[in-house]
Amino acid sequence: MSIVAVKLRNYQPDDEAAVVELWHSCGLMQNPLNDARKDIAFCLAGGHGEILILEDEDKIVATAMLGQDGHRGWIYYVAVASGRQGEGLGRRIVTAAEDRLKAAGVPKLQLLVRGSNTRVVGFYQRLGYQVEPAATMSRRLDGAPLPGGHQTNDETVIVTYLEMRDRPSLPHLVPKIPRHALMRAHDISVAFYRYLYDAVGRPWYWTDRKKLSDPELAEIIHADAVEVYVLYVGGIPAGFYELDARDMPDMELAYFGIMPEFIGHGLGPYLLSQALETMWQRDPERVLVNTCTLDHPKALPMYQRFGFRPYDRQEIPAPWQTADNVLDFV
Ligand SMILES: CC(C)(COP(=O)(O)OP(=O)(O)OC[C@H]1O[C@@H](n2cnc3c(N)ncnc32)[C@H](O)[C@@H]1OP(=O)(O)O)[C@@H](O)C(=O)NCCC(=O)NCCS
Repeated sequence: MSIVAVKLRNYQPDDEAAVVELWHSCGLMQNPLNDARKDIAFCLAGGHGEILILEDEDKIVATAMLGQDGHRGWIYYVAVASGRQGEGLGRRIVTAAEDRLKAAGVPKLQLLVRGSNTRVVGFYQRLGYQVEPAATMSRRLDGAPLPGGHQTNDETVIVTYLEMRDRPSLPHLVPKIPRHALMRAHDISVAFYRYLYDAVGRPWYWTDRKKLSDPELAEIIHADAVEVYVLYVGGIPAGFYELDARDMPDMELAYFGIMPEFIGHGLGPYLLSQALETMWQRDPERVLVNTCTLDHPKALPMYQRFGFRPYDRQEIPAPWQTADNVLDFV
């Protein structure tokens, strides 16, 4: 299909339903705090934002929201209809947004790519954008909770420590998702471990392991008593867990999680049952795990359902409140 026939125009009020539908279908509405209709209204009411549309035979095939804050230009909601990706429409709409901002005298265009959408970085690089070594910081002014967790900025984090003293009867769970495989990662490389840790832990502010140097991290993950297991779905890593028997007869489920794009398929209970099965085979006296108020709200009830009992609670500062924080994302 030729893109010559595709027309560039500005958003009109009648477009709302089609635009919102496009953003949903492109996976841009994953944060429940983002309300597409409010975002459109707010952008247009402000007077320094606009929404560009590419239309092909009365069908909206691409969008971009752009604006400037008096210093930099920004672009949001870049989306190309799924059946029309790879035809140059993404390049065309981003170039159109650049032209508008250039004409308004804006010297630099910036954009944010959600941590779980790293695939799109390649697209922007192809268009001449570069990844900047900058920390993105944010604070909600509407009192809404932070993405992912149920924690507000000023609250301390509560860690709940849980234990299990007897081997539970574990359910035999089979994930509904096809083509999955669970494998122990023997002698896992530090780079692959760092990837897993970030891909799983980023929405939940996992930072402890990011503070370690490569040799410090290698010493832990290559210890004989530490085992890392990776869950693959369709050949792609979808989650992992790490078992730590260095303090036997206590054995800890040190890390456990599913990557954001694989949450919601029932993989959590499956992975937990597999982790517990392996841990009890090592014959510990106690199996330990901890979870905090930054974690997925379902984590604590899931651990309790499998037989863990809380034995301690502690308040700790949130990662962003500590001097050595290594948050490179929000
Ligand atoms: C990202 C998106 C807008 C790209 O649109 P598109 O129409 O498929 O991209 P184009 O066809 O215009 O591609 C432009 C160039 O980028 C390249 N490219 C596209 N996606 C790429 C990727 N994931 N990695 C590397 N290069 C990529 C193309 O090969 C093309 O290169 P060329 O012009 O040198 O041949 C589209 O995939 C999309 O809507 N994704 C879902 C929503 C989204 O993630 N939006 C971004 C939010 S930050």
